[in-house]
Order: sequence, then structure tokens, then C-alpha cells
Amino acid sequence: MSDQSALSLQEPSEHWGGPWTVKKLDAFSKYVEAYLTIMQSNPYWKTIYFDGFAGCGTRKDLNTELYNQLKITLEEEEGYKGAAERVLSLDKCFDYYYFIDNQKSLDKLKEKLASLPDADGRQKVFKPGDCNKWLIKLAELMQSNKYATLLFLDPFGMHIDWESIAALKETRSDIWILIPTGVIVNRLLDKAGELKHIDRLQSFFGLSEEEIRKEFFKKEKQTTLFGDDEITRKIRDPIQHIANLYIRQLHTIWRYVTETPLVLRNSRNVPIYHFVFASNNAAAKNIASDIIIKS
Ligand SMILES: C[S@@+](CC[C@H](N)C(=O)[O-])C[C@H]1O[C@@H](n2cnc3c(N)ncnc32)[C@H](O)[C@@H]1O
Repeated sequence: MSDQSALSLQEPSEHWGGPWTVKKLDAFSKYVEAYLTIMQSNPYWKTIYFDGFAGCGTRKDLNTELYNQLKITLEEEEGYKGAAERVLSLDKCFDYYYFIDNQKSLDKLKEKLASLPDADGRQKVFKPGDCNKWLIKLAELMQSNKYATLLFLDPFGMHIDWESIAALKETRSDIWILIPTGVIVNRLLDKAGELKHIDRLQSFFGLSEEEIRKEFFKKEKQTTLFGDDEITRKIRDPIQHIANLYIRQLHTIWRYVTETPLVLRNSRNVPIYHFVFASNNAAAKNIASDIIIKS
């Protein structure tokens, strides 16, 4: 697997944009409504919506291999509403909306959002570039203690560095984050434990190589005709363990994390992503958990 494909390895294209995407966006939208209702009674905080992987507003982008392979109908395409559009279509609003992606996607998104009724009056900021850079800047801004931010981090792959997440410690932030448990991380944790992409795994989990090996691999003695050998075995149910480990890490930053995340499965019922919520507010976490249970 090349470095590039390790990072952007996709869920088989025929499943992308399928029911799991809608399930994720539906759950998130429900949370946003509840969040804005609560925040309206807290006028002290200026609210920010931070969409770190905002997309272009559609599922189709003719210039990427992934989108080329989607083979979705025009009807499906037109019916698709990404998170940005859903959030901006709500009656209640944030004080600021931050959208991060590459320039090309942002240009398309801007155009799409401009056509929404009421969108003009809302403070939208489009920032091109790597989400990690903007997460660090956001964390700095939030040190002023004037802002409450709802983050939506929805990458296809392992694009989020742990240090960008950790920068949000002690801030008034609530976060929904998509973890590519089955679709990518599990594949980088190869069965033989070669861990060719250990650098990526380290920056993703915020753990050392030794810690990662300890979590996912066991050493066992094997007796052969030529004596005893030590072999490395990957643990059982690694996908669930990836989710658990990431949740454990999130707990070092936020006080409350949904212990049971929303599990997004492909059509073969294999978990591909886990969608997790974290906050320093117990009530917020209870709302998120409730949404997950009912999804
Ligand atoms: C799953 S799509 C986002 C879908 C969108 N949230 C929606 O609701 O329609 C992921 C997006 O992340 C963008 N992306 C990839 N790497 C990125 C990075 N390092 N920083 C910011 N955006 C990135 C891609 O260009 C792509 O548009």
C-alpha cells in the first residue's frame, strides 16, 4: 500500500454515499438542533460551527477517482444535503460558521450555500488548507474563553493528527468525529505486525509505537520442528478495539465521551467508521448518546 493510499483508502466506492452517510448526517443534524436550542439560553458565548472537512456540497466531483466511481443517479445527487447545507438551513443559527477544505471544494460549497434562503445574513468563513492547521488556530482563539464551538470532523481517512485534537483541551468545545476504524486504521494494523505506516498510526492515536503494538498485538510462543519460535498475533476484534482506544484517548481531552459510538457499517455489515461525540458537558453527552441509541 502506498503512503498516499494508506491515508485516503476508501470504503469500496459502491457503498460510499449510501445509507451510512445519511445515518451519520441525520444523527449529527439532530444534535445541532439540540445544541443551538441550549446555546440560545447562554448568550454569554459566541457560538462557532467548525466544519473541518466541509466537502463541496455534493457527493459528486468529477475530478476524483472516488467520485467518478460512485455511479449515483442525478436524482440521488440532487437529493444529497451535506452537513454544511443542513446546518445552514436550520432556523437557529451560530454566530460564525467555519468551513475548511481545499480551495476547489470551498468554491463549490460557497456557491451552493449562497443559494440557500437566509444564508447571506450568516457569518460564513471559508478557509482553505489542512484542517489540522485550522484546528490549532481555533484552539488558540478559544483560549479567550468567549467562544463555544461545535466541531464536525468528517474525514474519509486518517487526516486528523492527535496533536490538533489535543490542542482543544480545556476549551468550550463539543465535537463529533468520524473514526475510520474498519476502513483504514485496521488495514494499517497488518496481521504480521509489520506496521509499515507506524508514523501515521502514531500521529493518529497520539501514542508511541510500543504502546500501539501493546494494544493490538500479542507475542506467542510456537513450537516447531526446529525449536520454539516467537510469533506476533493481532488481537481479536481489532476494529472495536480501535474505536475503544480512540475513545480512551478522547477521554484525556474531554470529560464526557459517548462510550457507545454510532457504528457505520457497509452493506456486508462490517463496521467501517465509528462516529463519536465528546464534550466537557454531561448533558451534551447524554443528548448525543440518546441520538446514537435511536439512530
Ligand atoms: C467525507 S468528505 C466531507 C463530506 C461533508 N462533510 C458532507 O457532509 O458532505 C471529506 C472532505 O475532506 C476534504 N479533505 C481531505 N483532507 C483534508 C484535510 N487535510 N483538511 C481539510 N479537508 C480535507 C476532502 O477534500 C473532502 O471534501
